[in-house]
Amino acid sequence: MRNIEFFDTTLRDGEQQAGINFSIKEKMMIAKQLEKWGVTVIEGGFPAASPDSFASVKAIAGVLTTASVTALARCVKSDIDRAVEAVKGAKFPQLHVFIATSDIHLKHKLNMGRQQVLDSIREHVRYACDRIPVVEFSPEDATRTDRGFLLEAVQTAVDAGATYINIPDTVGYTTPQEFGDIFQFLIANVKSDRDIIFSPHCHDDLGMATANSLAAIKAGARRVEGTLNGIGERAGNAALEEVAIALHIRKDFYQVQIPIHLEETINTSQLVSRLAGVSIPPNKAVVGLNAFAHESGIHQDGVLKNPETYEIISPALVGATGTKLPLGKLSGRHALTQKLHELGISFEESEVEGLFKQFKALADKRQVVTDHDIRAIVAGTALKEGAHFTLENIQFENIPEGRKAILTFKTEGAVFVKEASGKGSIDAMFKAIDLAFDQEVDLVSYHVESVTGHLDAQAQARVTVKNLATGTVFSGKGSDYDVLIASANAYVNAYNRIIRENNQVGEASA
Ligand code: KIV
Ligand code: ZN
Repeated sequence: MRNIEFFDTTLRDGEQQAGINFSIKEKMMIAKQLEKWGVTVIEGGFPAASPDSFASVKAIAGVLTTASVTALARCVKSDIDRAVEAVKGAKFPQLHVFIATSDIHLKHKLNMGRQQVLDSIREHVRYACDRIPVVEFSPEDATRTDRGFLLEAVQTAVDAGATYINIPDTVGYTTPQEFGDIFQFLIANVKSDRDIIFSPHCHDDLGMATANSLAAIKAGARRVEGTLNGIGERAGNAALEEVAIALHIRKDFYQVQIPIHLEETINTSQLVSRLAGVSIPPNKAVVGLNAFAHESGIHQDGVLKNPETYEIISPALVGATGTKLPLGKLSGRHALTQKLHELGISFEESEVEGLFKQFKALADKRQVVTDHDIRAIVAGTALKEGAHFTLENIQFENIPEGRKAILTFKTEGAVFVKEASGKGSIDAMFKAIDLAFDQEVDLVSYHVESVTGHLDAQAQARVTVKNLATGTVFSGKGSDYDVLIASANAYVNAYNRIIRENNQVGEASA
């Protein structure tokens, strides 16, 4: 049985999904949970892209103890220097260097000839290996690259010192059979006296990212790249939880071992979903709400007689068994910290008191506080971290034109009030928030959903807002019992992210 390494790029390629922008604190929470889930390598970001990305890779590098940390760099020395600086504090640092190899990218994007690309690979992979010994090289758009040239590019990277060769299906174009052939071809023809490990990196444009990743593994790949819940650029990346469970359930076929602690799958998926503000479709494989629900009478009857009649994955295998330690209003701090551990949520001792107060406020209103509620409290707290303004209070008045919203905000050492009128409560509230932040923005989208299906569920709101100064789209998230407060918190959260971006642009140009 071959061992398969799991390379998670939720924090880099996953964050490239429009509207997702994790704060450093959120990235650290996700990185720690990914490590607990068992991934081998975490790609923390693209440090040359922004000061925030640099700082988050550095922060992640400082906290991981078993997983390796890697960072993305183009074949550009300053990118590699930045990535080296960010990962060098890690216990197990790695680098990920890439350049495009397809003719279409060479001609229209890089304006380079094939020989220039080979020279660049040689120079920059060598440069990277001289600084951090474990280097992965990716020929971007590999699946639309001429086979012969792909082999030359990969051989050049291997000769220059790369240990890992990642084959990206950058535009989600390949098919399982074709991709398997590419791996067989490269594995058979790349020459080295070192052990070279190949990996797939698949995008889901044609809905084949998981199938293509599995085909590559079947053909000999020993590392696989992807993201939790399949988040990522355009249609997203291969969903690593799907790959993991497929390799486990069909071990008879794939004949490989995985390092993943499958019982942490739901915890990991939920954390990413909540912090990304991207909900999981109910019919999503492995982690969707309905993945283990049986609706038809015939199926229910079969499952009651023997779950194996219609269930190839047992809920317990992925940690979908529901709450083991139910919390209620009599639960104390100890029960809460136990629950946080059970849900795979990392926290500082100093945070427990604040979380406990919020838990108590919720428990006073409800019989049972669910795991979803606890995750929502933790995510809500993380969202307020480092905020420029926080929302303290909201009041409404009926007026002839509709509603008037009076909002109280808190900023460092000061409290101030803004009020505005609108056709309805949301309109009035968002206008008051616009006044508080005084930035040029466009509201792109606004959604609300319930955290659980019950009438007394918490509402989770998500907005996407465009910073008109930079054109960047930001998502904002908020949750509360009250739909209006959840919505206001989401809008305030998006604004706080814009302020952070504006400050970074200011710092960079200063
Ligand atoms: O999809 C892609 O080609 C990438 C590379 C940077 C590996 O994300
Ligand atoms: Zn990608």
